[in-house]
Amino acid sequence: IPVEPFDLVVFGGTGDLAQRKILPALFRRFCGGQWPEDVLVLGAARKKLDDDGYRALVAGWLKEHAPDRSADCAALDRFLSRVGYVPVEAQGDEGWPELAARLSRDRVRAFYFSVGPRLFGALAERIEAHGMASDKTRIVVEKPFGHDLESARALNATLAGHFRERQIYRIDHYLGKETVQNLMAVRFGNMLFEPLWNSQYVDHIQITVAETVGVDGRESYYDRAGAMRDMVQNHLMQLLCLIAMEPPAKFDPDAVRDEKLKVIRALDPVLPHHIVRGQYVGVDGQPGYREVVGNPRSSTESYIALRAHISNWRWAGTPFYLRTGKRLVARSSVINVMFKDAPHSIFGADAGRHANVLSIRLQPNEGITLKVTIKEPGQGGMRLVDVPLDMSFAEALGPENQVSPDAYERLIMDVVRGNQTLFMRGDEVEAAWAWTDPIIAGWESSGDVPKPYDCGSTGPGDAELLMKRDGRNWQGIKP
Ligand code: BG6
Repeated sequence: IPVEPFDLVVFGGTGDLAQRKILPALFRRFCGGQWPEDVLVLGAARKKLDDDGYRALVAGWLKEHAPDRSADCAALDRFLSRVGYVPVEAQGDEGWPELAARLSRDRVRAFYFSVGPRLFGALAERIEAHGMASDKTRIVVEKPFGHDLESARALNATLAGHFRERQIYRIDHYLGKETVQNLMAVRFGNMLFEPLWNSQYVDHIQITVAETVGVDGRESYYDRAGAMRDMVQNHLMQLLCLIAMEPPAKFDPDAVRDEKLKVIRALDPVLPHHIVRGQYVGVDGQPGYREVVGNPRSSTESYIALRAHISNWRWAGTPFYLRTGKRLVARSSVINVMFKDAPHSIFGADAGRHANVLSIRLQPNEGITLKVTIKEPGQGGMRLVDVPLDMSFAEALGPENQVSPDAYERLIMDVVRGNQTLFMRGDEVEAAWAWTDPIIAGWESSGDVPKPYDCGSTGPGDAELLMKRDGRNWQGIKP
């Protein structure tokens, strides 16, 4: 899809996200030939730098975070010639006239707010005051979008004071992942699954986002957030929506987001005994969560497992089990759709119980496995066995598709194209907080303390019990 010429400003242009994600993503799209002529990317931050000083920094970041592409020195130089820098005081006057002067062309203008939410208002106000808020202006904001419903509402109101909803791009980088978008392709591009995609045929659904990384480097943010705010309210919620939503009439921003919103609004409040919170403890000399964050009394969860219910016609009676945690045994994001047993076994009790499982692996080893039941070969009687129909996207799509683009590449180019389908709408974010707030308030009022679990394990034993009590089991966490 062709992209019209654009100018892009990265506020927080010397920060961690700019270094690791935003500039490398822009560079990769540039190398991929997706940039029109004459694009300008400006870093903006407090630091006193000129264009050349910034270019030298950017070159270093690209060498570290896009080493394959930056080895091509000519491409790197051509990219850097499109990059500049303006020192800007977010809450003051300094730098704004210079920024406005460099953005004087009438074209798509994207402002990436890669800064803490407390600066959103100041930035929005100055963009407008300095005449940079045209109809073609878009702003991009990162999570965390608020800390609770009240703060999210306040942020939405602040942004709405300067921009229209169609100009605001709230990033949840999970939506930029190829395999997450693939959930929609699998569901709505095939006839095979959708007729069975409801409580009549699906026993339950498991959504697992297991991480091996801890919270190092982000201790103070994480200790205030915890897994519920950091992962469940956004990434897991988005996965749940894509799995559970009704088919949108078309793949366009409001059609998709309307359907996601209906799912969030149909979620029941979660009962306290349907949630397990965990916090990792160190083993073999490795530090535990409390040591890492330097807070010996921290009761922040680094793991969460919960059972959710969606009260609508499609899903009444089908539980959704969600779990996510840090420092677990393997990195594995997978959705398992656990179908019901066949209603009657013609093979008798000896054949055992068998049910189909559709596993959608989001990362790593992206692919799909469908567990099907077949006859065990050679036996006299009719004994059944479950075998996987296993498909890895990398193998199926060929070597040229082995490297899937980073989520930020897709999302930033969608901002430039003006396509909001993969971004969260304000009401969606608020609805997600409205669901998580009472859960968090419940822990705070009861003084809930998370259950310890060993780093490198599959999480606290109580998470297994959450399933066992319902006569079910988690599918293993496999890399
Ligand atoms: C971020 C969370 O949004 O997503 C991190 O703040 C988490 O805590 C990360 O590690 C996971 O993203 P990915 O792309 O590595 O699965």
